[in-house]
Amino acid sequence: MFPTKRPRRLRRTAAIRSLVRETSLDPADFILPLFFSETLTSPHPIGSMPGVSQLPVGEAANQARLAKEHGLGGVILFGLPKTKDATGSSAYDPNGPVPRAVAAMKDAVPELLVMTDVCVDEYTDHGHCGILKTSARGEVDVDNDATLEVLARAAVVHARAGADIVAPSDMMDGRVAALRRALDGESFTDTAILSYAVKYASGFYGPFREAADCAPKFGDRASYQMDPANARESLREARLDEDEGADLLMVKPALPYLDIVSKVREASPLPLGAYNVSGEYAMVKAAAAAGMIDERRVVLEILTSIRRAGADFILTYHAVDAARWLG
Ligand code: PBG
Repeated sequence: MFPTKRPRRLRRTAAIRSLVRETSLDPADFILPLFFSETLTSPHPIGSMPGVSQLPVGEAANQARLAKEHGLGGVILFGLPKTKDATGSSAYDPNGPVPRAVAAMKDAVPELLVMTDVCVDEYTDHGHCGILKTSARGEVDVDNDATLEVLARAAVVHARAGADIVAPSDMMDGRVAALRRALDGESFTDTAILSYAVKYASGFYGPFREAADCAPKFGDRASYQMDPANARESLREARLDEDEGADLLMVKPALPYLDIVSKVREASPLPLGAYNVSGEYAMVKAAAAAGMIDERRVVLEILTSIRRAGADFILTYHAVDAARWLG
């Protein structure tokens, strides 16, 4: 008896496939990460991320127009400051590269969604995501509560410059509550918080650390970022940040953690993002350059898989290319 049910019927033509497609991909789903330097006067290509450059703040308005032209969902800004110190104090300099770039982008394209990454690793001379403390036994670690104050000050500076959304990426406990309190205290009650709620201690950040000049000078980030072996813990992190007042959540990296994206999607009603990080990008670019894969096809498949797992939006260095391909 030949089966009466034939799934291939729904794959026969492009029109039928389009009708029954479960997951959509739109440029508005993509957030483009940008690196603004206080010292550069022209773009500086990042070796491990072909197609991505550190940019002078003077490029911000052009980037805003580019993002709008491609219909992107928004941008997220990282900063390369002129000076670094032990506490990352340049992170809350109102004349730093991020606040200046935010203001320039909002002036150029007021309706563009501008997010900022809030973390001190780009601003500390040791490269860790917080202020360090030494225990009585001589062990050095990041001081959670002392770091919260710097993060809160940076978030307020970003909000004052015009950021729509601030995105803490440091993985300190209690930072969402600290940011909310500080923002509300300065009357930035409408500035939303996108929490990098579920961020793993990942080797996939390698190229970014060149891009943002923030590799830790000693040790690693395992005492604050999550253990890649843990899944249940993602729900705990997501719930805590939700309770502290996060408006949106993020899982990072994306591709090696699609199971986590899916879990968090089911557990939380908040809008969910996923960060298709630098190492994921670099692998695709290297394989494509070596002629091993079809870049366009692979990128669109990866982005679709992240959306299919449950992400509403994707932070991705492929944003402009993917928007072009979809257009
Ligand atoms: C921390 C931060 C990192 C990334 C985004 N925010 C680096 C880290 O945690 O070490 C990584 C992004 C990427 O790899 O694309 N400010």
